[in-house]
Amino acid sequence: MDPNIREVLDLVARWIHLIAGIMWVGNSMLFNWLDRNLDKEGKGPRSFGEIWLLHSGAYYQVEKKMLAKEEYPRVLHWFKWQSYTTWISGACLMAIVYYMPSGGAYLVDSNVSGISVDRAIDFGLATIVGGFVFYDVTWRVLGKRNEKLATALTLLLVGAAVVGIPRVLAGRAAYMHVGALLGTIMAGNVFLHIVPSQRELVKATQEGSTKDLELSSHAKQRSIHNNYFTFPLLFIMVSNHFPSTYGSGHAALTLAVLIVTGALVRHFLNIRFGFAQWVPAVLGTITAGIVALFFLAGGQEVLAGKPKAPPEKIAFSRVQLVINDRCVPCHAKKPVDPSMQTAPNNVVLETPEQIKQYAERIKIRAVVGKTMPLSNKTNMTEEERGLLGKWLLGGANLD
Ligand code: HEC
Repeated sequence: MDPNIREVLDLVARWIHLIAGIMWVGNSMLFNWLDRNLDKEGKGPRSFGEIWLLHSGAYYQVEKKMLAKEEYPRVLHWFKWQSYTTWISGACLMAIVYYMPSGGAYLVDSNVSGISVDRAIDFGLATIVGGFVFYDVTWRVLGKRNEKLATALTLLLVGAAVVGIPRVLAGRAAYMHVGALLGTIMAGNVFLHIVPSQRELVKATQEGSTKDLELSSHAKQRSIHNNYFTFPLLFIMVSNHFPSTYGSGHAALTLAVLIVTGALVRHFLNIRFGFAQWVPAVLGTITAGIVALFFLAGGQEVLAGKPKAPPEKIAFSRVQLVINDRCVPCHAKKPVDPSMQTAPNNVVLETPEQIKQYAERIKIRAVVGKTMPLSNKTNMTEEERGLLGKWLLGGANLD
């Protein structure tokens, strides 16, 4: 497919994905918050409690309750299309960004594994579908009988995905596939469990029959899972902007730390501690996460300080030769690489000044991490990365 058309499709799908995702997550956060803050004082047996809110210039009075047949409202609002739209646009994005570009530009990386593009697509799809089926069957079978075992198996599944996928796919694609697995589980929970339970509830109300409380607790179980997956998933969605995570030598460990941190932060927001207790708990979790990340993403290098011996002086002409060979095929005003129409991210590395301007990013992308050249398409060697490293250490001089 023409790269320009793919770019437009990417933009449209991403925009939809972002908006639908914000609406889905926003709704679910609001309802979670409402649930935790309901005031049960003086309410009848069918009520879960009431809450008053102030927004946009007036008061809202919201009560959570079960309804008798004759109370069923004329109009009832459901919240389900946000999640379906998020999943569908996400699936399109996966295809547009990772499966369609020729040569699997973002999908495979010869530094990671020698898998072919076709096999990598099969592998990616199999992990998402297989992981979802594993999760769903686990909870269908064990959800009521042995919740602890089901939880352990789910953690095992996520752990296996976090450790296994980055050994096969390029770092960024690996992260996104773990995210797609979590997102598929979440949308699947809405589609296969939460919405059907609610449909049953509505039917029972309309018929005036007793509501099956088991249905309601079943929906609640799946919705708690979604709640804990939310923050880890949101990090993965923006992980593309942080090559220091997916591109580090510890891509899997970094992802694991961020998933645990995200779920913990969610947990502290869930349990209703008093303010004085949850603030330190949340701050503690965030600090632990940041410290871990710092070490994982090359922080040791910073702590070790400057090397004792003065850095070897590297002539700029040698640096420019390397950049010309390994980067400029893509990072030029008119790239020769057939998959690029314009310089990616508008980063052009043709003149000494441009190279100097991007020195910090060159360090992050090609020396500390190895996320550039993209999929190492231009076969950059370790010696060349070392040369760039020494040049940067010496102050990135142009002489
Ligand atoms: C095969 C094409 C290709 C080659 C070769 C290539 N890049 Fe990139 N580069 C990209 C693409 C695509 C992006 C945008 C996506 C991204 O940021 O990962 C990009 C983005 C960048 C960015 C901007 C994003 C940021 O993190 O600041 C920098 C800097 C960069 N590349 C540096 C390099 C360097 C240095 C080399 C050579 C060692 C190189 N690239 C070789 C395709 C390439």
